[in-house]
Amino acid sequence: MSQAIVRTEALVKDYGKLRALAGVDLSIEQGEVFGFLGPNGSGKSTTIRILLDLLRPTEGRAEVFGVEPRAGGGALRARIGYLPGELAMAGRRTAGDLLEYFARLRGGAGRERISELAERFGLELDRPIRGLSKGNKQKVGVVQAFMHAPELLILDEPTSGLDPLLQREFLDLVVEARDGGATVFLSSHVLREVEAVADRVAIIRSGVVVDVDDIAVLRRNAGQTVVLHFEGPVSAEEFGALPNVDEVKLEGSVLTCLLRGEPDALLKAAARHRVLRWSAEDRDIEALFLDLYRENGSLASKGGSGS
Ligand SMILES: Nc1ncnc2c1ncn2[C@@H]1O[C@H](COP(=O)(O)OP(=O)(O)O)[C@@H](O)[C@H]1O
Ligand SMILES: [Mg+2]
Repeated sequence: MSQAIVRTEALVKDYGKLRALAGVDLSIEQGEVFGFLGPNGSGKSTTIRILLDLLRPTEGRAEVFGVEPRAGGGALRARIGYLPGELAMAGRRTAGDLLEYFARLRGGAGRERISELAERFGLELDRPIRGLSKGNKQKVGVVQAFMHAPELLILDEPTSGLDPLLQREFLDLVVEARDGGATVFLSSHVLREVEAVADRVAIIRSGVVVDVDDIAVLRRNAGQTVVLHFEGPVSAEEFGALPNVDEVKLEGSVLTCLLRGEPDALLKAAARHRVLRWSAEDRDIEALFLDLYRENGSLASKGGSGS
């Protein structure tokens, strides 16, 4: 088995009386794009800031490239491209100055890619930092995270503030980095953003990881909504008892249900009656994501909308 690039074990973080992380276990393998999904306030940034040694855990441990963040120092940091939720930009004159400063901090690494990446994202390097829109600041953040071709990218809500065209460009950049051998850890509160690029996702809620899965498995688990129009009445109990069938609803002789996995039993049961029409539609994995939140408590109990 390959060595985990990022590992956390029973990570706990308290802010005073507030337990922001309540035992987070993560293991991210070399070369994967790993999505970290959860609503606002669920603990994504806290976890990420511990990996960067911007915060120290209350309990538990974290390792990046097999080293504890606090012990890794500059050598560890140099292997990581980090896009924070909010990039601190005070004291620099223009976007170009700031990126040049980042290059200098890294011994010049990535300087040659600044103009290429800026052009790709439509970032004007001579614009003063002060007065840049949220989207433009985010572009500066993206360029500084990727420019030195780091082995590990840690990206905290990377597409927030980017318009849809640039989100696409950004996702291409993630795929290129992965194809080049990098490992990518990316957080989001929007499933759609990570679904497009992630190999696996962890879902975090109220400081607890409630699920870790391959995107393909999540898709499969999301199941299908099946609608069957029968000629005459059928019994909801008959269908509700079938394997892989849930959430049976009957309206007159129209049966709607959720199918997860093999449809064989459902088809055979349906075939005992006359079927006039049928449809089976893949459920969005967003629906599964919402199921997971519901199973683990109310989505509205913590955090809110916005960033
Ligand atoms: N510096 C802080 N001081 C006190 N509470 C904090 C601080 N940072 C985050 N929190 C709280 O910790 C919880 C997790 O926050 P955070 O990790 O930022 O979540 P996310 O990034 O998923 O939105 C939230 O309830 C948040 O209000
Ligand atoms: Mg956050």
